[in-house]
Amino acid sequence: MKRNRVIDLLKSDALPQSIKVSGWVRSLRAGKDVAFMALSDGSSAATLQVVMEGSLPAFEELCKTGTGSAVTVCGVLRESPAKGQSVELLAEKIEVTGAADDSYPLQKKRHSFEFLRTIAHLRPRTNTFGAVFRLRSSLAHAVHRFFEERGFLYVHTPIITASDCEGAGEMFRVTTLPPQLAAAPDFSRDFFGRATSLTVSGQLEGELFAQAFTDIYTFGPTFRAENSNTSRHAAEFWMIEPEMAFADLMDDAALAEEFFRYLCHHVLGKCAEDMAFFDEHVEKGLCERIRKVADSSFEVMEYTEAIRHLKQATVSFQYPVSWGLDLQSEHERYITEKIVGGPTFLVNYPKEIKAFYMRQNDDNKTVAAMDLLVPKVGEIIGGSQREERLDILLAKMCACGINPDSLQWYLDTRRWGSTPHAGFGLGFERVLMYLSGMENIRDVIPFPRTPGHAEF
Ligand code: 4AD
Ligand code: MG
Repeated sequence: MKRNRVIDLLKSDALPQSIKVSGWVRSLRAGKDVAFMALSDGSSAATLQVVMEGSLPAFEELCKTGTGSAVTVCGVLRESPAKGQSVELLAEKIEVTGAADDSYPLQKKRHSFEFLRTIAHLRPRTNTFGAVFRLRSSLAHAVHRFFEERGFLYVHTPIITASDCEGAGEMFRVTTLPPQLAAAPDFSRDFFGRATSLTVSGQLEGELFAQAFTDIYTFGPTFRAENSNTSRHAAEFWMIEPEMAFADLMDDAALAEEFFRYLCHHVLGKCAEDMAFFDEHVEKGLCERIRKVADSSFEVMEYTEAIRHLKQATVSFQYPVSWGLDLQSEHERYITEKIVGGPTFLVNYPKEIKAFYMRQNDDNKTVAAMDLLVPKVGEIIGGSQREERLDILLAKMCACGINPDSLQWYLDTRRWGSTPHAGFGLGFERVLMYLSGMENIRDVIPFPRTPGHAEF
């Protein structure tokens, strides 16, 4: 079934034409013998102007149709004599399939993003969230296209897992044990016969597939019980994780840069209307900012050098800076915004602050880690070359307190046919924030889950 969508009708050049279209009323201006209805079906930021003349059946009744009502309109699509739109629909019949009265919360006035979060079930019907979720959908398609064009295999890694990939202990427990047993749980009696959680990353399983298919990626939901109530953290977020066999850290950074720039080009080309909306209403100069990044090559900076810059900084930071400490968002943003002025790969971090699977460098102090930092957002990608040497990996796991018995399947790939390999994770919401100018992660995911919040 192919239905008429507003986005196509607005571009139609076969006029006049009899059509039927359905959507929701954004506004209705009624005069004595004529009324104008702005109709949206979510396909476009623009609305279709429906002209209602006095001769329309039930004209007076229809003039009372409230904002938010669902309608189906039959009529003639024609060139619009008025300014502001090229086509309009002269209504011959209007059916109100679901009326909305004036208690509808989205009357024609500006609402704060905070208020709209409390009505996340209705906010997709606003201009801003229409644009956000069209962008999100289009970008997801672009992610798959990028990897498919390059021969990467798409792997569905499990959502329920028994391993903590990042080793940070920020897992949501999955259990069917009754609450009264929660204090001293016996996981051998649990659903899976062992302790399980929601995944924090598909990487470990992704690595297994890279050792068979060479280039793979995952794209799915991930969960972290981080108790950080920031504008950049969600407890449920989506991540894209490519993994390449026979690849090192610089191959990894090259893929990350190509991917990131591809996504920038994609939104400028394929989501131009929504990007223009963000540019006008959310962040002035957005498209210019994205265009520059799409056409630039990214800096690479050593962690050690970043620390030197941070120590020399004249601004004062809330968190301490010294070699061996992890970087906070304020430090990341200082590097990418003030020192470099563009996207920056920070590489070779101290081994103590990174996950167990990262490849040990010859200095024995750092690992082959790579974070991509971008202005406004800070860390948007985290990746690394993986430790492919069995003995070193085993020693590292022991040093990190990870029982090798629990990850025998992971170690097997180092036992038989091990390869140098590398990958990264791109936070899908973070890239959406970056590309839309939206400043809160809660406003780029349909139903945000953050500490204390899991409505809808
Ligand atoms: O740096 P992270 O923790 O890396 C990993 O998970 C690796 N296993 C990836 C890999 O090498 N395959 O997370 C990767 C990215 C971050 O750079 C950030 O963009 C995003 O995931 N991210 C979050 N986004 C939203 N809310 C959170 N709580 C996030 N935590 C990480
Ligand atoms: Mg990280």
